[in-house]
Amino acid sequence: TVLSPVLILAAYLFGSLSFAVLVSRWMGLDDPRTYGSGNPGATNVLRSGSKKAAILTLLLDALKGFVPVLLVRVFAPELGVGVLTVGLVGLAAFLGHLWPVFFRFQGGKGVATAAGVMLAWSPWLGLAVLLTWLAVAYLSRYSSLAAICACLAAPVYQMLFWDDVTLLLAMVPMCLLLVWRHEGNIRKLLAGTESRIGQKAASPA
Ligand code: G3P
Repeated sequence: TVLSPVLILAAYLFGSLSFAVLVSRWMGLDDPRTYGSGNPGATNVLRSGSKKAAILTLLLDALKGFVPVLLVRVFAPELGVGVLTVGLVGLAAFLGHLWPVFFRFQGGKGVATAAGVMLAWSPWLGLAVLLTWLAVAYLSRYSSLAAICACLAAPVYQMLFWDDVTLLLAMVPMCLLLVWRHEGNIRKLLAGTESRIGQKAASPA
């Protein structure tokens, strides 16, 4: 319907709120784009040493994906939109995180936002993906590896356990973009130089 583009645009704007930068600013911490991996995301905020800021970033970056998708999903009949719009609203929030209009289009890698989006698309899918992330993170201590594995597993879970293929139109591009954004992490993983969860950023010289 005519409403779909408006909802998709609103989700993109919502996703453009880079909470790693905002939370750090509110809490008087350094800008996460200036240390560690330079990535505005919860994993890098954790390298500042503030667990509180990292958790807050994780929650808010996840919520900005979760809330728009859930609202559109719940009110789909009233709004007159279908599953494709529900999918595209999630993809738009994710794209906002990667290329935020409010932060010169320099965003993050989209892990927390993708998790929020998937939980709102389908709680069971979200749970399966979260458990995959936790298992890989627990075993390897690499946040990036956990995200890559969990995201690649998502479309497979969707096809194996839920037969709604429409969502895949949004999910597959989201997962491919997420993996592509981890190109630098993949190089470091292969070289054995990727930092593990809990490892703090080297203090600036
Ligand atoms: O949350 C993004 C994570 O997968 C990698 O982040 O800072 O280690 O590049 P980072």
